[in-house]
Amino acid sequence: MKHLSLLLLVLPVALACGREGTSSESHTRVQDQPACGTPASAETLRIMEGLKPHCEGCHAQGARGYFASADAFQSLLVSDARLVKAGSPDDSELVRLLEGRGSTAFKQMPIGEKSYAQLVSEGTATLPVAEVRAWVQGLTTQQRDARPDPAAPRITRLNATQAQRALYQQLGLVHEDFFIVAHEFGIPMAESRGDDLYPLQPPDAVPAPRQNTTSERFYGLGGGSVMTQTASDRSPSPTFALTLTQVSQRWCRLALAKTGNVALFPAGTKRTADPTDVKATLRRWSLHFLGERFSDAQVDALYADVFVPLSTPTDTEPAYVGACSYFIRHPHWIFY
Ligand code: HEC
Repeated sequence: MKHLSLLLLVLPVALACGREGTSSESHTRVQDQPACGTPASAETLRIMEGLKPHCEGCHAQGARGYFASADAFQSLLVSDARLVKAGSPDDSELVRLLEGRGSTAFKQMPIGEKSYAQLVSEGTATLPVAEVRAWVQGLTTQQRDARPDPAAPRITRLNATQAQRALYQQLGLVHEDFFIVAHEFGIPMAESRGDDLYPLQPPDAVPAPRQNTTSERFYGLGGGSVMTQTASDRSPSPTFALTLTQVSQRWCRLALAKTGNVALFPAGTKRTADPTDVKATLRRWSLHFLGERFSDAQVDALYADVFVPLSTPTDTEPAYVGACSYFIRHPHWIFY
């Protein structure tokens, strides 16, 4: 939890915008300031729309996703002086590419048989290259927005189905630990073994959950459903964090209690209160859950901050549950 909220606090900082000509001491960071790059003009948008049908197939995403949106066109192409030299069509690689005179890796755009200019002359493309030239000629120097776009999809979190699958696998749990088969009008249903096990089943899954709380927990993790017309939510919302906390704690306990379960303690590993054994487990779990090898300092801190406060002289179970669910609520588990 602590890590998740830290991460969420960091994001708004990316909204702050440095102004030109202001020294770093005096410049104040204001949120929700308008974009600092030159905005796309109406003529720029017209050019974009004209080129789009012949370009967007290959340039709708990624670092060269020029045609993904007006912002993308403006910031990735128009404001990149290596591609568009304001006031100077002949020095603009974009124009050269359209005319089949590219100077770098490619001679022309679109790649393939015909250059854009050829497409225009045969009537396939309608925006004449002369208009692209005139537009570049009329451009004033474009200021590129150096800030990362906070709305751009950079990292995303596991969806509800992925979370369930990962938990089953990493904790050594299976569908049958939570459900028995029941029938309703001859149709097989997933009958919960008890809501205190925190069962989770997508409403669209087969067999479908018989109990409402089962699918509500799935919605809590942001899962959507075609059948019940519920949109999925991939934001790290408070409901998501709360549901994941409950599910991870309960399921870690189940996994530790499950007879013959070697997911968390493979053969040869020791489940004791001995600090050396505990730290070996925490180190192994960092790999198991996060695919990361925690350093000695990280393991020591986790032991001191999470494990020790939860263990009692007679019972290490709550402490192992706490450590196990710590990894599941870790930002590196949730986001990828
Ligand atoms: C069939 C696929 C395809 C189409 C269609 C296409 N491109 Fe490209 N374009 C590429 C590839 C591949 C590259 C190489 C860079 C990369 O994406 O890795 C590229 C690169 C570019 C670059 C960067 C050149 C450089 O030197 O950095 C520009 C600018 C560009 N394309 C503009 C356009 C425009 C404008 C159109 C439409 C007229 C277009 N492309 C249509 C595939 C395509």
